Amino acid sequence: MKKLKQEGKTEHPLLKLIDQKKIPAHVAIIMDGNGRWAKSRGLERIEGHRAGIEGVKAAVEAAQETGVRYLTLYAFSVENWKRPESEVKELFNLLDHYLEKEKNRIEEEQIRFRTIGRLTDLPQKTRKNLEEVQERTINHKGLTLTFALSYGGRAEICDAISKIVDKAKMGEFNSEVTEKTVQKYLYAPDLPDPDLLIRTSGEYRISNFLLWQIAYTEIIILDVLWPDFRQEHFYEALLDYQRRERRYGGVSE
Ligand code: FPP
Repeated sequence: MKKLKQEGKTEHPLLKLIDQKKIPAHVAIIMDGNGRWAKSRGLERIEGHRAGIEGVKAAVEAAQETGVRYLTLYAFSVENWKRPESEVKELFNLLDHYLEKEKNRIEEEQIRFRTIGRLTDLPQKTRKNLEEVQERTINHKGLTLTFALSYGGRAEICDAISKIVDKAKMGEFNSEVTEKTVQKYLYAPDLPDPDLLIRTSGEYRISNFLLWQIAYTEIIILDVLWPDFRQEHFYEALLDYQRRERRYGGVSE
């Protein structure tokens, strides 16, 4: 809760209930429901995405306040390329805008910004912006904020296998393929597996997100559309997570 104290803000009552000894290191979020949020207001879908930026800011703040070390947000999937060109274009414009607007905060708060996904698919300008912010923040020691862009869990596993096969062809790999080997060739091998995965909009689906990494992740589905997501939803999810017993296939103590 360091951040709140620094800013002199009052603490949300739910924050007091969170056990500081059981904070998940890594929280991943499937940000869903922007389209429905916009439709229910008679707005264009892109307005839902625009409003969704408030959700992103709330998630980042809540992660920092609670001491979560890694936050990974599913911003654009490999399947999202099927959407109308105008929506895709606007989504990347929004991302460019977000990076520009949040530049100072990322610096001041020492956020380490990262991406996972097939970045080569992205518009040149967005890719350049992303690469710049990643390089600039590489030594930052605050929250690691990862955006999944043109990301697919199956694509990531296929990409890892291709890299292993290439190594084998060059004679640089001739041992047994273990879980450790696959992990090494993921997009961000050093990121720990998520402890908690949150999905908004009440849908019970994984949608091809972090398939390898979520083997033992706790999943929480929230009945809120992403543009309405605020810090208290994050706190609620953390409290629910802390009530669970993680056994990793073992038995209770
Ligand atoms: C899913 O809602 C959301 C996305 C595909 C995009 C996520 C984008 C944002 C949160 C805003 C952009 C912000 C940044 C910084 C990238 P959906 O469109 O699938 O909603 P629906 O299921 O209700 O149609």
